[in-house]
Amino acid sequence: MDQPRQLIDKLEETSRLTKEEWIVLIGGQNEDLAQYLFEKARRLQTQYFGNRIYIRGLIEFTNYCKNDCYYCGIRRSNRQTERYRLTKEQIMECCKDGYRLGFRTFVLQGGEDGCFTQEKLEDLVYTIKADYPDCAITLSLGERSKESYEGLFRAGADRYLLRHETADEAHYQTLHPKELSVKKRKQCLWDLKKIGYQTGTGFMVGSPGQTPEHLAKDLLFIRELEPHMVGIGPFIPHHETPFAGEPGGTVEQTLFLIGLLRVMLPKLLLPATTALGTIDPRGREKGILAGANVVMPNLSPTSVRKKYELYDNKICTGDEAAECRSCLNRRMEKIGYRLVIDRGDYGVKCLED
Ligand code: 5AD
Ligand code: FES
Repeated sequence: MDQPRQLIDKLEETSRLTKEEWIVLIGGQNEDLAQYLFEKARRLQTQYFGNRIYIRGLIEFTNYCKNDCYYCGIRRSNRQTERYRLTKEQIMECCKDGYRLGFRTFVLQGGEDGCFTQEKLEDLVYTIKADYPDCAITLSLGERSKESYEGLFRAGADRYLLRHETADEAHYQTLHPKELSVKKRKQCLWDLKKIGYQTGTGFMVGSPGQTPEHLAKDLLFIRELEPHMVGIGPFIPHHETPFAGEPGGTVEQTLFLIGLLRVMLPKLLLPATTALGTIDPRGREKGILAGANVVMPNLSPTSVRKKYELYDNKICTGDEAAECRSCLNRRMEKIGYRLVIDRGDYGVKCLED
C-alpha cells in the first residue's frame, strides 16, 4: 500500500483513488502531510485562477423550514428561532446593495418553505435576472421535483447548491429524520446537473458519527458527480438541536479536505465557508491557503441575520454587507489574493484584469 504522500501524487496524476486509498490518505492527516498537500493545492489554484477570489452575495430570504435535520438550527422543531421571510422588495434591495458593492452572483438561500410557491420563486428569479442580466443567480432551496428545478432554470437561474451532507446511507439516516434519504438527495443532484445548472454539493466535516470511511465515500461520490462547486465546512453544534452536546469538526480536518478536493478536481469552485470562519478567526484565510477560491459574504438585511442561525456563534451577523465586503478585501489582500468583480462561472478562464 502506498504512503499518504504518494497517494497525493497519485491523486494529482490520475484524479482518482480507491476507497481504501482514500481511507489511508484521510487517516494519514498530520501537519507535514497537510503542508505537502496545501502546496500542491495552491499550485493548482494559482494555475487555474491566479490570485483571484470570487465573491457570491448570499441572501438568506426565509428561515421557515419543513425539515427537521438533527444538526440544523432552523429545523422545524426549534421553537426558539424567530421565523422570518423577506419580501420581494427586500430581496431586490439586497441585490441592489450587492450590485453596487461589486457582486455579480446572488445566492438565494432558504429553508424548505412552502410559502414561496413555484410561481413566486420563478417570478423572483425572473425579476432579478431582468434587472441584473450580467449577474448569475444561484438557488439553494433544498430538495424539489425535477419539474420545479426545470421551471426555475427556465426562469433564469444559473446554479444550484444542494449539499449531499454525507454519501453514506446509514450515516445519512443518523443525521436526518426518516422522511429524508440520501438516495433522493443524490437523485436531485443528478437532475440538477442534467438540466444544465452549474451544480454545487458538499458536506459537513466532523458531523456526529463521521468516520474516514464516510469521508472516503463523500470524495468518491463527488468524483462521480463531478459538480462545479463543493461547499464544505466544519459541523458546529447548535444549542437547540439534538446534537447540542456533540463535538464540532476541526479546522485542520476541514482544511485538509479542501486541499484534497482542489487536487482531485483542480477547476472546482471551492468556498472558504462562513462555518470555517466561525471556528477560527482566520479560518477563511486558511481555507484560501489550502486551495479554496470563493467567499460568500452575506447580503441579508442585518435585522434578520441573527435569525438564520444554522449553528452557534455564526460570524458577521451584526455587519452590513459593505463592512463584510471591505473586511474580506483586506483579509484577502493580506495573504496575497484579491476579490474580483466577476460572475465567476465554472470553467471560464478569467482574463487578467
Ligand atoms: N454546522 C455546520 N454546518 C451546518 N449546516 C447546517 N447545520 C449546520 C451545523 N450545525 C450546513 C449544512 C447545510 C448548509 C446550508 O449548512 O451542510 O447544507
Ligand atoms: Fe463580515 Fe469580516 S467578513 S465582518
